Amino acid sequence: MNFAVSSIRDCRSLNDVAGLADIPTSVIDIDIMIGEFDALGRGLGPEAIRLVVEVALSDPTVPFMMACARLDNPVSQLAFAKAGFRKDREFDDVPNGLHMLMVRHRQEGQVA
Ligand SMILES: CC(C)(COP(=O)(O)OP(=O)(O)OC[C@H]1O[C@@H](n2cnc3c(N)ncnc32)[C@H](O)[C@@H]1OP(=O)(O)O)[C@@H](O)C(=O)NCCC(=O)NCCS
Repeated sequence: MNFAVSSIRDCRSLNDVAGLADIPTSVIDIDIMIGEFDALGRGLGPEAIRLVVEVALSDPTVPFMMACARLDNPVSQLAFAKAGFRKDREFDDVPNGLHMLMVRHRQEGQVA
């Protein structure tokens, strides 16, 4: 299973173009791809995302997490929703097409 976890700061100019300029630079962006066919559709994705979120949000300087799922990828949107992300807005990630911005804030009672 591969993860990409990056600071939004790395792609600030792209965010301006996509209309995401309001996202704080300290937000962590998460992407995931399960490469093993047999491992798909068994709930491993949301579980792995939850673990990464827990580690990332333990850093108090990280205000929230974000993920960008293609509009034509409902499985990805479902996986992030199962890990506590909610839909924030659609945006056009030129030239990669329409995406759904999903965000995950600290939950009530979460320490960091
Ligand atoms: C997106 C991904 C990480 C999700 O991980 P996963 O472990 O397969 O997720 P889940 O098993 O929890 O499935 C998520 C939901 O989609 C549904 N689903 C899974 N595969 C499906 C399929 N082929 N067709 C329809 N629904 C499907 C599941 O039933 C589940 O919904 P449910 O909880 O209501 O039953 C994984 O599918 C993946 O790596 N896909 C390829 C790369 C990719 O799209 N990455 C995301 C980029 S933002």
